Amino acid sequence: MAKMWAGRFQKEESKEVNDFNSSISFDGVMFEADITGSMAHASMLGKMGIIKESDSKLIIDTLADILSDIKEGKLELDMEAEDIHMFIEAELTKRIGEVGKRLHTARSRNDQVALDIRLYLMDKVDEILKLIKEFSKTIIDLAEANKETIMPGYTHLQRAQPITFANHLLAYAYMLKRDYERFIEAKERMNYSPLGSCALAGTTYNIDREMVANTLGFNGIVMNSLDGVSDRDFTVELASAASISMMHLSRFSEEIIMWCSWEFKFIELDDAYSTGSSIMPQKKNPDICELIRGKTGRVYGDLITLLTMLKGIPLAYNKDMQEDKEAIFDALDTLKDCLKIFNPMLKTITVLKDNMYKAAQKGFINATDLADYLVKKGMAFRDAYKISGSLVSYCINNNIVLEEVSLDTFREYSKLFSDDVYDEIKLEKCTFKRTSMGASAISSVEAQIDDLKKWWK
Ligand code: ARG
Repeated sequence: MAKMWAGRFQKEESKEVNDFNSSISFDGVMFEADITGSMAHASMLGKMGIIKESDSKLIIDTLADILSDIKEGKLELDMEAEDIHMFIEAELTKRIGEVGKRLHTARSRNDQVALDIRLYLMDKVDEILKLIKEFSKTIIDLAEANKETIMPGYTHLQRAQPITFANHLLAYAYMLKRDYERFIEAKERMNYSPLGSCALAGTTYNIDREMVANTLGFNGIVMNSLDGVSDRDFTVELASAASISMMHLSRFSEEIIMWCSWEFKFIELDDAYSTGSSIMPQKKNPDICELIRGKTGRVYGDLITLLTMLKGIPLAYNKDMQEDKEAIFDALDTLKDCLKIFNPMLKTITVLKDNMYKAAQKGFINATDLADYLVKKGMAFRDAYKISGSLVSYCINNNIVLEEVSLDTFREYSKLFSDDVYDEIKLEKCTFKRTSMGASAISSVEAQIDDLKKWWK
């Protein structure tokens, strides 16, 4: 196909160069953003008298036809085209000849692509925001159903203190809330129109950049023409937000993988969301979680791709920047896919409350509470800590738990012990008396759920 720039050249470019240069195989997905941007541009050109109003109208109507033809599958993208922008413009010119050639007045592909990618990504972000909210709703529903489900809380993967499953889950709901806010903030910062920057230096035509920005729903315009066509910091921010979100999903996945193992058996995945082994008949594998954990690395890779691609290029546009698309599309699509599958998987888990409870009964998870008991009777915490530690050691030697120590033995360690100690170190008491803000007590968990529900509104 003869290139738009053929005038300057004596030879046609080779097929290899065309294929190497072409981006339509991955920027074709931006066809709607490209057409929407062109319509706004054409409308401005007409209103400002840069092209005839009648030409502007014909361009806009034809672009609308092209859009619906692509959507309905009547028009296929030509993979020989250099990119989506060239394809649409060529199609427009094919349909309306001379008039079509007027669209690219006071515009360059440099500001065009900078506009398209912003429009396209902002829609993608909206999809992600919706998915994050839906997923957090599932987490909160599960927490609501498990306000009384006691489990061991861990540090260093050692049983530490008793918590409720609800409180554990809500930690992830709060992480997702921050992920959500990060995407909102990134979107806010990228919501400015670069169109009218033209190639890099602006234009001598009497354009109205604000008009285009308003038509397209932007908050305003990118004020510097070189900045408008040169920076892709918004892709870096989005990839960073996606990486952080994937990191959260990956940690959650890792916990689910552990909880499914026979060593824990805290939950069971629904058959529909697990896989079997080709050789070991007993296996039920948490493949989805492992894939989410694995795909996290690939999203981090996308972030590094973008940062590295940008770090050494001089202003203004350089073709390196075409590499932004595959990386940022992949990062956001991967996050989207992971959120989409995680949600129904979590919705359908079976919580094995008895196993959680039994695990909490072991591991001297109430040793802190035993120390706190002595503190409440007047002892300094450091001394109480020592006595509680000695009693744990006594229990290990005698293969019993703290609840089974006789009162006489307790009193050998401290005369402050009396009969009420047994009630104080009961698992239920240790869990539900933690009424501080953010803790596992039912009131504390309910306060968190209320707080999270406010975020939805
Ligand atoms: N396909 C190009 C990209 O994605 C469009 C911009 C091309 N501009 C240029 N001066 N070659 O970056």
